[in-house]
Amino acid sequence: MNTAQKCVSALLNFIDESPSPWHAAHSVEKKLLAHNFQELKETESWSLEKNGHYYLIRDDSSIIAFIMGHKSLAETGYKIIGAHTDSPSLRIKPKAPHYEGSLLRLGVEVYGGPILATFSDRDLSLAGRISYKDNQNIIKTQLVHFKEALLRLPNLAIHMNSKVNAEGLKFHKQNELPLLLSCANEQLPEQRFYKLLEKLTGIDSKQILSWELNVYDTQKGSFWGENQEFYSNSQLDNLASCDAGLQALLDNKLKQPEATLVCAFFDHEEIGSETYKGANGNFLSDTLARIAFNFDEKQENYHRALAMSFMISADMAHAYQPNFPAAYEPNHKVMVNQGPVIKVNENQRYSSESVSAAMFINWCQQEDVPYQQYAHRTDIPCGSTLGPMSSAKLGIRTVDVGNPMWAMHSIRESAGVYDHLNMIKVLRRFFEN
Ligand code: CO
Repeated sequence: MNTAQKCVSALLNFIDESPSPWHAAHSVEKKLLAHNFQELKETESWSLEKNGHYYLIRDDSSIIAFIMGHKSLAETGYKIIGAHTDSPSLRIKPKAPHYEGSLLRLGVEVYGGPILATFSDRDLSLAGRISYKDNQNIIKTQLVHFKEALLRLPNLAIHMNSKVNAEGLKFHKQNELPLLLSCANEQLPEQRFYKLLEKLTGIDSKQILSWELNVYDTQKGSFWGENQEFYSNSQLDNLASCDAGLQALLDNKLKQPEATLVCAFFDHEEIGSETYKGANGNFLSDTLARIAFNFDEKQENYHRALAMSFMISADMAHAYQPNFPAAYEPNHKVMVNQGPVIKVNENQRYSSESVSAAMFINWCQQEDVPYQQYAHRTDIPCGSTLGPMSSAKLGIRTVDVGNPMWAMHSIRESAGVYDHLNMIKVLRRFFEN
């Protein structure tokens, strides 16, 4: 394996250990703890030290890690990398288990905008968190991860759906998405499902009060291509960017930085970010303010720090797929394995502007990393990222970038091996400068 493949191999392990946003935050936390980061609680008082390494988690799935700089914030500002921990999927409804046609099914809700058809005929399972009452009547939360395949969405045979190849594979969201779990028997469906959770967690099913369960694909990440130059897994959007940001932050050269370095990974990007722990909430702004005021910075210095700051909003980009040439802007085709992508949209669906784009290009050039520029077709609506809203909220100059990938929001996405290492190099350069 070459260095780039080793880097992706670590990314694939990170994704395989993170089948839900709650697990993703937990996997990030494990890496931070291994690098001697110290946990802070929002409910407690903080006493931060120069060059201290810290992290905090809000509601189990949004996580902010930072290394305090040794210079004053007003002089250096914050250097921030933003990304998201969630991916579009199916989620299990509160009263999901039911019998239908002598089978036990689970009702699901669509989370964000997945390509629904890609969930069919896969070895699916469940991961997420449950809340329960312990013997002292205290509400507790536990991560749950069913490792074996548990669920399936079998397709209709072509003999009953003869136009499928001409008209596309469609699923009615309410009627055709419930997942098959087992055969019916004399037990109540709900009881069976609670027993399943009990068996996995060891928590008495009567004590389990609620859950958030994500449907995930049990197939592990893999390399492919003539020279294994491509890779695939679920959730590349956007765990690949979280991994790249984290690898940059954990680099040994950055143990005593001048500026305060921040990685902010949010849940709920795929549903608009406007939540308690989303990028359009106050998690990041509160944290940055608390960092400043912990050093008795005056209010004015905090605002000076924000004005000095820079954020890289890292989220994946759409790579050119030659089978669908009409979907792309002909002069802005971005290619897998040809470097990180700067995303530009004049209507500010992406937060890049000419100054922030130039700064990113400069870091690429310093690292000898190729870069690409993406603009969406003018006649189709463009997606967005957490960049525009967090930069608006904080008043921080931001660039939207990401690595090129295929099949965004499919349960099996793919990308190029060489881009991941290149992205890590550029993000590290941003932190180092
Ligand atoms: Co994304």
